[in-house]
Amino acid sequence: MPLIDWTDGMAIGIDPLDADHRALLGHFNELHQAVADVWPTSAALAAGDTLIDALHVHFRQEQQLLQRLTLPGGICHREEHLIRHEEFLDRATALRAELVAGRPNRKAIESLAVTLTDFELVRFDFQMVGHLLREGLLPVKTASLLPA
Ligand SMILES: [Fe+2]
Ligand SMILES: [Fe+2]
Repeated sequence: MPLIDWTDGMAIGIDPLDADHRALLGHFNELHQAVADVWPTSAALAAGDTLIDALHVHFRQEQQLLQRLTLPGGICHREEHLIRHEEFLDRATALRAELVAGRPNRKAIESLAVTLTDFELVRFDFQMVGHLLREGLLPVKTASLLPA
């Protein structure tokens, strides 16, 4: 059973970033499974490396979007968002170090996966979309939320 499942409610509406988020959850599930089932093997380390590499790529992509924000609210959001990314990478790197040291920590993996969905997908990335829309940097998608 996967640690955490993607749900459509997590979609922020920027397709490449949604694809990344979905893939990141998959990497978390793989790492969690590797630690549960096949430790000690190189599989868990490989899964940890894959996850960290994917996080770096994803955060760089978001950083490029965040750099386009120029209004005070957007700049403020960017600073806070980037700090959260750094904190998250620090935790992922610490988790990788525990794997290397032979101390796989399932609770830490679970906690990090929950943090990803909690701050990343649900809050900060949605806020980023709001700032990008406010500054005219994204096309406005009109969803049919109201009955016809
Ligand atoms: Fe993200
Ligand atoms: Fe983010």
